[in-house]
Amino acid sequence: MANLNLSADEVLTTTRAVRRRLDTSRPVAPELITECLEIAVQAPTGSNRQNWRFMVVTEPDLIAALADLYRRGGEVAGDYLGVLPRLEPSDPAQLEATNEKMHASAGHLFEHLDEVPGMLIPCLVGRVWDQPPVTVASHVGSVIQAAWSFMLAARERGIGTVWTTIHLCYEQEAAELLGIPYDEVMQLALIPFAHTVGTDFRPARREPLELVTRWNRW
Ligand SMILES: Cc1cc2nc3c(=O)[nH]c(=O)nc-3n(C[C@H](O)[C@H](O)[C@H](O)COP(=O)(O)O)c2cc1C
Repeated sequence: MANLNLSADEVLTTTRAVRRRLDTSRPVAPELITECLEIAVQAPTGSNRQNWRFMVVTEPDLIAALADLYRRGGEVAGDYLGVLPRLEPSDPAQLEATNEKMHASAGHLFEHLDEVPGMLIPCLVGRVWDQPPVTVASHVGSVIQAAWSFMLAARERGIGTVWTTIHLCYEQEAAELLGIPYDEVMQLALIPFAHTVGTDFRPARREPLELVTRWNRW
């Protein structure tokens, strides 16, 4: 498929978490993924370390095994994520409606993840979770931007993605499966990809800027 020729702002505002509209019947050409990764590595890294590593998974057996870890992760993720604060939304009813759709969509991915043609696992060489905040921030910030660039470049090419994290409940098992040296390399996400069913996506409704922005004082 040719590029969609979206404007920069369109790409930035319409790269959605795609779950239901992943076309699992179509393979994704490896060259397209390479193109997206070429763009991804233009992202910044702390001190230009480029400690990033991008694990592309396309073998169906590996995808099925990762989907299994993801499902198992889904059963326990609440125990880990429950500690994160839930802030008062500006419009509780609206947020509840959005989240209901999100849960239904997430349920769909849960059921169909093993069918996707590929997954990207952004990784970092250096396992630093026990280090001070400055170290963790500099390290983690050095792959997240590249991975998001990958997702934006994919969108421009008619490929849908969704940032997921719950397989990390079983990160070590995923590492063993893929031959990733767990003691040295952190996985940050698992990003399924597939061509999208249709290419029209809309900007999301978000909390108003006034609620989420501070100028000069908190
Ligand atoms: C750090 C992070 C972790 C996420 N983890 C998951 C996940 O494990 N499973 C999933 O289906 N979606 C996951 N998502 C996708 C979010 O649910 C999604 O981005 C959010 O609902 C907003 O939807 P939108 O991106 O389409 O606007 C994650 C997103 C982020 C940024």
